[in-house]
Amino acid sequence: MKVTVFGIGYVGLVQAAVLAEVGHDVMCIDVDEHKVENLKKGNIPIFEPGLAPLVQQNYEAGRLHFTTDAKAGIAHGTIQFIAVGTPPDEDGSADLQYVTAVARTIAEHMTDRKVVVDKSTVPVGTADKVRQVMATTLEKRGSNVPFDVVSNPEFLKEGAAVADCMRPERIVIGSDSDSKEVIEPIRELYEPFNRNHDRMIMMDIRSAELTKYAANCMLATKISFMNEMSNLAEMLGADIEKVRQGIGSDSRIGYHFIYPGCGYGGSCFPKDVQALIRTAEHIGYQPKLLQAVEQVNYQQKYKLNRLISDYFGEDLKGKTFSLWGLAFKPNTDDMREASSRVLMEQLWQAGATVQAYDPEAMHEVQRIYGQRDDLKVMDTKEAALQGADALVICTEWQSFRAPDFDIIKGALKQPVIFDGRNLFDPERLKNRGFTYYAIGRGSSIKPVI
Ligand code: UDX
Repeated sequence: MKVTVFGIGYVGLVQAAVLAEVGHDVMCIDVDEHKVENLKKGNIPIFEPGLAPLVQQNYEAGRLHFTTDAKAGIAHGTIQFIAVGTPPDEDGSADLQYVTAVARTIAEHMTDRKVVVDKSTVPVGTADKVRQVMATTLEKRGSNVPFDVVSNPEFLKEGAAVADCMRPERIVIGSDSDSKEVIEPIRELYEPFNRNHDRMIMMDIRSAELTKYAANCMLATKISFMNEMSNLAEMLGADIEKVRQGIGSDSRIGYHFIYPGCGYGGSCFPKDVQALIRTAEHIGYQPKLLQAVEQVNYQQKYKLNRLISDYFGEDLKGKTFSLWGLAFKPNTDDMREASSRVLMEQLWQAGATVQAYDPEAMHEVQRIYGQRDDLKVMDTKEAALQGADALVICTEWQSFRAPDFDIIKGALKQPVIFDGRNLFDPERLKNRGFTYYAIGRGSSIKPVI
């Protein structure tokens, strides 16, 4: 099938490459000439396991194309994906200007029937807006070329995006029409991903749009709930890791997304929770649970700083902290809304220096903060330890899980670890002579009662 994808960002590029891989003929359009030229040369703008070879092979095989020419790109596909960004505007609502601009462009140039698919995470009601913008633009042209709008939210996770897209657990399709002209092309498009059993869940457009937000908000709720439990566990002298196993074994609760830590980050949870709160407020509903999810997460991002100031005091002038992990989670270089940013900014404010290491986000931290005397970006995790007053861990990279503790002890001024991801056994670290603070592990902190 011939497919056009607007927006070569995270979602658009992964989706386009995976569709090309199963044999579809995919044209990607972006306004950024530099990005398009780089992709043609095989330079992928993001770090994502497995994506670079997939893009390159399919580009070389002639199934994946990149262009800035909207008119030619629109002529290419029967299906037109909108996968452009929906950044938060000043009040946290999703900014739809890029989505509506694409809708307008499609309507300006289309000459045959198109099925327009909203892939971007968009508030409920956006498909109606897209339809309206397209109808108005076509009317201005004096054209009556038919089109349909479908919602098809994306559920991929960074770091596992290619696998998630290749083997989706579900394909949610929202359509207000059951006409063959809409459903058949979508079925044909996703047939290769639908082999063993039907993964397509059909529903009306508004339900599909809300499904995306509900999924992310549910996951964020699980995390904030566990973070709240971890704070209670700490004060009550209980160990949240034991509690996690105790509740996760109940199949109604499950083990996924109940890992406590120094807060969730990334491009989705913080933005989507906030956007759904704004949508609710806009229609006169106070979403108390979602507001609490956001507040708990906000506080949790300061958790490590609180532990550090309890130990070292408020004034950290002259102190150096070794930081392992900058990315918002492992297997990505993405630092959007990462807990490490709150940690570093607070440490700097208190006068400390940070010696940081991350397996992938070293360029990203320099891009965000530039050169500064109180940030030293180190080449290895061992180098980041040298002469520091303590080690702080913000991301659970695999390579941090079994470090040489003798090296850590020898390199730090004093053997103190603040672990925002509960990587180690507190008892074992205590026996090795470390002072170890983790999240919600009562054994490392004196209970309140
Ligand atoms: C998320 C959703 O999982 C995905 O379905 C959606 O399409 C986009 O948003 P992503 O942001 O890539 O994906 O990362 P995810 O693995 O969900 O982690 C998000 C954040 O939650 C990370 O900061 C992670 O450290 C944190 N997290 C996750 C926890 O703190 N505890 C957990 O148990 C799980």
